[in-house]
Amino acid sequence: MIVFSFDKSFFSEIYSLCFQTRQSGQRVIVKRVLNPLCGIQQAAVQSGLQTRFTEFKRSDDFFTENKKRLTGDFMKKVLGIVASPRKLGNSEMMIKEIGKHIPVPCELKLLRLSDFDIKPCRACYTCLFKEEHCVIKDDLHKITEAIAEADGLIVAAPTYFLGANALLKLLLDRGLSFYSYLDRFWGKPSVGIGIAGIEGKEGYTLLNIRSFLKLTMTDIKMTGMIYGALPGEIFFNEENKQIAAAMGKALFGERLETKAPSCPLCGGDTFQFIGDNRVKCMLCSNPGTVETKDGRPVFSIGRAGHELFLSKEEALQHRDWLRQMKGRFSEEKSRLKEISSAYLKGWEFIKP
Ligand SMILES: Cc1cc2nc3c(=O)[nH]c(=O)nc-3n(C[C@H](O)[C@H](O)[C@H](O)COP(=O)(O)O)c2cc1C
Repeated sequence: MIVFSFDKSFFSEIYSLCFQTRQSGQRVIVKRVLNPLCGIQQAAVQSGLQTRFTEFKRSDDFFTENKKRLTGDFMKKVLGIVASPRKLGNSEMMIKEIGKHIPVPCELKLLRLSDFDIKPCRACYTCLFKEEHCVIKDDLHKITEAIAEADGLIVAAPTYFLGANALLKLLLDRGLSFYSYLDRFWGKPSVGIGIAGIEGKEGYTLLNIRSFLKLTMTDIKMTGMIYGALPGEIFFNEENKQIAAAMGKALFGERLETKAPSCPLCGGDTFQFIGDNRVKCMLCSNPGTVETKDGRPVFSIGRAGHELFLSKEEALQHRDWLRQMKGRFSEEKSRLKEISSAYLKGWEFIKP
């Protein structure tokens, strides 16, 4: 393997290699890769037994224009969703670090939620009937398209007041429109990382992140929580780089099973205790019981009969159930109006 720097002649080099491919019949592969050793986007030119890497910086345009022809478009597209508004903060750096360790050729693109106009869901349910479009005029479509286009997802969110910051939930609240993307979202591999400033004070951040990844219908390969308050402080601790490396490897690899007691239906590890030995999984929201076996808690959770994401069929059933609400609303309209009319007048709203 020869590593050499980019210079102008590189374009003609790729060209000539490709040209030779066609002429001699020898297999030459040109890939755009994120080099896990140095974290720089490079072009890998593989010819026979030899692979050479070269920096990509200035070859971007050339590559974009010629990508299909040069690569056959086989590189994995990875989308990193940065929920934190802090530029070059811990969430952003962690995603970039994870990206360095993905062992397959891939292209990592980042999306910072605070760069986008995401309005709150209006609960009009129109998106359930109109393919792919929410009626709200904002940037949601750009985000859902970017998720749909990606082969894998990395999500990072900071802890704000014991939970993931609100931007992640703001996006998730628009999730009724994800149903029109169901085929493109379903089963997409994902990893999620939460960052809190104080060790142990992450509250329910990880539950928020897992919930986001489940409800975007992805296949969660690994999630975790790391700590660091100042931008970059997470890497004072070398172990966090190892977590990033494990996540990078897991994204398109084997799912890392948790050793912690978990929900047998969805893998969730957060439970609400609702009396006696009865519990509820806070991820799939299904009920069950907990017993102690060999000193360890064992959770038995069963389907309650209305599932949101456990299987593709059940997700579709939920969408159909929501669609039926339109008919039910028409049927019950007069009864509902009778109830709501009693709450119409006599109250004052403070306006901005
Ligand atoms: C509004 C706000 C609330 C926060 N609340 C918590 C908290 O409840 N627990 C905690 O451990 N850290 C909390 N933090 C610290 C951040 O989680 C921490 O600085 C993290 O590294 C931020 O990640 P970022 O650099 O990706 O934005 C809070 C930070 C802010 C700005």
